[in-house]
Amino acid sequence: MKRSFQKQPNIVLIGFMGTGKSSVGKRLSAQLRMRYVDIDTVIERQSQRPITDIFDEDGEEVFRQLESEAVKKVSNYANHVISTGGGVVLRETNVSRLKENGVVFCLTATPEEILKRVGHHTHRPLLQTPDPMNTIRTLLAERKPYYDKADYMIHTTGRTYDEIISHIKGIFYRNALRRKSPDRKSSR
Ligand code: S3P
Repeated sequence: MKRSFQKQPNIVLIGFMGTGKSSVGKRLSAQLRMRYVDIDTVIERQSQRPITDIFDEDGEEVFRQLESEAVKKVSNYANHVISTGGGVVLRETNVSRLKENGVVFCLTATPEEILKRVGHHTHRPLLQTPDPMNTIRTLLAERKPYYDKADYMIHTTGRTYDEIISHIKGIFYRNALRRKSPDRKSSR
């Protein structure tokens, strides 16, 4: 990855629901003394409603529009760890904006692990279906080409937070700050 950033670069975490973007992002920002921002939280604050209400009352398209506006704002930040909602990749402009001043890491997990992590949650409108496992598999397959646009893939299944975080830190420092040769799409 050869990209020169105008400002101190961000670490951007994308990936499916339940892959650990928020948990990893918060820990990572604390360790690196970077600020942390979660796009879903920006949307909720801005619209003063929980995401489930936005989906229920206005539908997914309105949510996606609010999400794009939040991405536009946050992409201008510097030296932040940014975690995103799982569907942020669906609009290509979101990813290109986030890449302007950020290194984009896609967290991945197996469908079984995702179900274990989020299956009992009720705040993810897209998974409130009769067969969440099937929904997870379908959405993962549909979204794969979009997640593949990340700079790096980071597997999380069977790994501790410490392992995941030191993997991301290693890549970020090596490639983003010291601007050395890439190990693009590294997965372990
Ligand atoms: C979504 C993921 C959610 C949230 C919204 C839509 C998606 O965020 O943005 O429910 O389309 O995958 P998390 O990935 O943090 O659960």
